[in-house]
This record gives sequence, C-alpha cells and structure tokens, in this order.
Amino acid sequence: MCGIVAYIGPKQAYPILLKGLQRLEYRGYDSAGIALLNGGLILFKTKGKVAELEDYLKDKNLKGTIGIAHTRWATHGEPNQTNAHPHFSKSKKLAIIHNGIIENYAALKKELTKRGYTFDSDTDTEVLINLIEDIQQNENVSLEEAVRISLNQVIGAYAIVVLSQDNPDMLIAARKGSPLVIGVGEDDYFIASDATPIIEYTKNVVYLEDEEVAVVKRGEDLQIRNIKNRKKTPYIQELEWNLNELEKGGYEHFMLKEIYEQPRSVKDSMRGRLNAQSGIVSLGGIVDYEDKMLKARRIIMIACGTSWHAGLVGEYLFEDIARIPVEVEYASEFRYRNPIIDENDVVIAISQSGETADTLAAIEMARSKGATILGICNVVGSSIARATDAGTYTHAGPEIGVASTKAFTAQVTVLTLMALRLAKLKGTLPKSRFMQLLNELEALPEKITKVLDDHGITERIAEEFKAASNFLYLGRGYNFPVALEGALKLKEISYIHAEGYPAAEMKHGPIALIDENMPVVFIAPNKGIYEKVVSNIQEVKARNGKIIAIVTEGDTTVKDLADYIIEIPETEEMLVPILASVPLQKLAYYIAILRGCNVDQPRNLAKSVTVE
Ligand code: M6R
Repeated sequence: MCGIVAYIGPKQAYPILLKGLQRLEYRGYDSAGIALLNGGLILFKTKGKVAELEDYLKDKNLKGTIGIAHTRWATHGEPNQTNAHPHFSKSKKLAIIHNGIIENYAALKKELTKRGYTFDSDTDTEVLINLIEDIQQNENVSLEEAVRISLNQVIGAYAIVVLSQDNPDMLIAARKGSPLVIGVGEDDYFIASDATPIIEYTKNVVYLEDEEVAVVKRGEDLQIRNIKNRKKTPYIQELEWNLNELEKGGYEHFMLKEIYEQPRSVKDSMRGRLNAQSGIVSLGGIVDYEDKMLKARRIIMIACGTSWHAGLVGEYLFEDIARIPVEVEYASEFRYRNPIIDENDVVIAISQSGETADTLAAIEMARSKGATILGICNVVGSSIARATDAGTYTHAGPEIGVASTKAFTAQVTVLTLMALRLAKLKGTLPKSRFMQLLNELEALPEKITKVLDDHGITERIAEEFKAASNFLYLGRGYNFPVALEGALKLKEISYIHAEGYPAAEMKHGPIALIDENMPVVFIAPNKGIYEKVVSNIQEVKARNGKIIAIVTEGDTTVKDLADYIIEIPETEEMLVPILASVPLQKLAYYIAILRGCNVDQPRNLAKSVTVE
C-alpha cells in the first residue's frame, strides 16, 4: 500500500528519495510524488509509476537536502495527479505525506471549510495538513505542537511526515496504526514506511510507536514525544536484512528469486531451533508461553490470504501430532463476529508483513477479551510483532514480490516446529516417530532444491494452459490448504479465475464445471488417503478434464491417469505442503509471465494491506 520516504542531512535529497520510492514500489501503488525544500517548497507528482515521475522530473531543478516522497494506493479519491501526495497546506508553506485513513476527515473538512479553507483534492490527507496549519496559525504554537494538537483530534490511522518552508532543518514524523521507521545515519536521518529504502544507508533504526511524534532535526539528536507531549527515549535497533536481499540478484523478477530462495529460507527458519540428531526442537521466543499453549482450551490462528492458508496447515499439524484443538479464522471476519474467547484461549497471529490491518485489529479484539496473543511474523519489529505477547520470527528474509512464496513455506516450517515442540512436551508422539519427523524436517531444504530443478516441466505446462479461463485446484487433508494456496497464487498474478477445493467436495458442485477445457491441478502424494484422491482424479478424467498432478517420485498410478505430472521427493505426509507448494508457485509464475502480467506488482494488489 502507500509508501513513505523522507530525508534530511548533508546530501542531495532527490536521488535518495527517488531510490527510496523505487524500493517501495513492491508495496503496490497508483501514483507518486515528491516535495523538496531549497529556499522555497517545491512539489511534483504524477499518476502511474515512479518511472513516470522520474521522467516528468528530468529537466526540473531538484536541488535540496531535505525532502519527502510518497507512493499512493488510492483510498479517498481516484488515483490521479491531484490526489497523489505530497499535499500542500493552504499557504503552501507546509507539505505532508500520509499513509493510513483519517476516519473523521469529513467532519474536520466541514469545519475547515467554514473557516475559509478550500481543497484541491478529495483526500483526507489535505484536510490534515490544513488542520495543522490552522492550529499553528490560530493558536500561535510551534509546528511540532500544532502536529500534536491536530493528531489528538484525528480518528483513524496515520503515518505522516511534514515538511515546512519556515523550518528548513526539520522534519516531523508521527504514526498511529501505520508503521514508520527512522534510519539514524552518521549525520543524517531517513524516514520510511518500512526499512527497505533505509538499509543501504544505515542499519540503525528506530521504530516509532503508536501516537509518537518525532522531531527530526539536522545535526541534532532525535527527539520523540507522544501526542500527549510525554518525552520518549528513542530505542535504536539494528536491522537484520542486507541490501542484496532487496535486489533481484540476476533473476528477472523478485517472485522468481524468492521461489528459488526457499531451500535457504526454510533452512533459516529452522536455524538454531532444530537439531535432529539430538532430538531437539526449541523456539526461544515462545518458551515462556509453552505451558499456556499446552493448557489452552484451544488455539485460534488468525491471518489473511496466504498466511491464513499457512494457518490451515497449522491446524492439521497441531491437531494431528500435538492433539491440541485449533480453529483458523480470517482476521477480517474474526474481528467483527463477537467470538467466544477468553483467557483460556491462545491466539496465534500469522503475518508476513506484520502490518496487515485486519490481523492487527483482530489481535486487539482478542486481547481485550483476555486471550494470550502469540505471533508468527517475517518482518522484525513490525506492528504485529510488537502487538503480540511473544512470538517466533520466520526469518525468510525480505519478501518483495506481492505474491507470497517463501514467506508461506517459512510460516509452515515454523508451525511444524511449534507442533513438534508441543507434541514433545505433551508426549503425544512415540520417541522414534518424533525423531523420524525431525530428520525428515531437516532434510527438507535439500528436497526443495530437487523440486525446483524440474527439467522445465512447469514451463511446458504453463505454455499449454496459459490461455485457460479457469483452473481448479484439488487436494485432501494436509493438501487442501495447498490447493487453496495454489489457486490464490494463480489468480493474483495471472488474473485467471482459479478455485481451490477439498477434492471430495468437487462432487457437491464444482464437478459441473469440468469439461475438456478445464485444467484441474491435483496435489496427490502417495500419503494419507491417496486412493481416495486417485478416485477423485478418475472422476475428473471421466469428464474429460485436463489433469495436472503433483505426485511422489516414482508414482505410476496417477501418472497413467494424468495429462501432466510434477514429481516431488518422498517425504512425510505433514511435510508435503512445503514441497508441493513450490511447483504451484512456479506454475503460477510462468503462466503469468506468458500472459504478459506484472508478476511482482499485480494490478490492484498491495504487498501489505494496511487498511481494512
Ligand atoms: O503480510 P500478511 O501475511 O499479513 O499478508 C496477508 C495477505 O495480504 C497476503 O498473504 C496476500 O494474500 C498475498 N498477496 C498472497 O500472495
């Protein structure tokens, strides 16, 4: 969604801001803009991509060592040049960039209109900057004070940076419900909505907390106060990610790079947590909450999208091997449906970005009812990571492609470790079985490497089915969530309509869709209720559906029935989702490429969905 980048220091701001905007492109956006201060305040914005803004700025004077820039994903008002950020105040002496939504903007706007303000755009953001200016002028207070007073009147979420013509050595940044990170350089500061524009300049960052306002002055220490004017001490943390993780590293797209990173990312999510030889599984982040989990009436996993699919695999794992009841809920539904939940429940929030608005709101709701909240997040220091009582990072590294790939397999890996740890503590698995599972888990990264090296089969399948209008994905047991995930990957990046179903449910409706034009992807490893899945495959074949099947190496039964097979190495039933999701990611990728789609930034989508 929207992206923020700002700079103050001795260097020229424009190249830093432009690079920052490019780094933020992955979040999804529809317009971009920049404001610089060099004597006067200048502001440029365009609809479309950052490259279009760059083009538009080619012959402009872009000097200045302080500036703010933004990528906008439209919420209030259509995506056009006028609604793009930054926005000027009435006097054109203040400029603002803003992520989030000011919910009471209409009432504030009405009030300001009565006082003679007019508005160029349809945005809530332009209302906020005029409110700040109005307070500063009428109450005769400093800009910092005016920002604080305004934010006390605002209902909603915001991450803002304000630039002022009368304060050429200062930026003001504030957040509530929308993340903001301040990079602390040698003699400069960088402000951004996530750390990606900052990493190449400094690894020292301060994550602003909700309702904090930072005054960032050239050559001075960072000052933070909350909106009630209480002084806060900035807590400087070191970023874990490296610059090369934000580059494509020779791959054509981030998504492909991230698919191929999975042997490494799955290994990283197990690093220091699994020692198969000694029979050790431990997750330091949640060790103090193990007892709570073991005694919980039930565990509720809340998430959205791909992370919700990982939660579904988690449900199978926890119930199967640790015998703990689990429910998996869409965060967006859970938060509004008045669920029965109290201090006997443990909630696990799963999120790659750690910023998903619905998941955050669901956490707050569950907390207010007394539940213990744990998190599984990829982004260190993210809002969800900080909103939970404890948690486990997935350590998959930055995921830039909008379609989640390595984050999913890392989430499932962490859930597997958790389930095994609980099973050990609860004694629900015989020792030999436990050891066998640990060994298989440890062997996964090597097996993912084998899956990736598929001799071009996914590309050939993609070529054959690139023009399809619909796809059906079917699986049973542990592979039902994999079917859902395969379908989501395809629809979000190729725009082909795809549905995932439990294979046996096909007879209750979707079978009506099957004819010679319908590709049906089966996840059919030789595990669990394999024979039942084979029967489902036969049902599709009898209706001339085109069958693409993911099978265990050496399978001959499905091979005889399917039009195409993709083999994965033999593994435990509960570990199949990690291996089987990889070819589905590749299939979606190649189909999308052949259809000319922008796989890293699919239309209408944002990497982290920070509005509900
Ligand atoms: O950052 P999160 O894991 O909380 O994001 C949840 C979903 O928005 C995300 O998984 C989305 O469905 C992806 N585009 C799927 O590829």
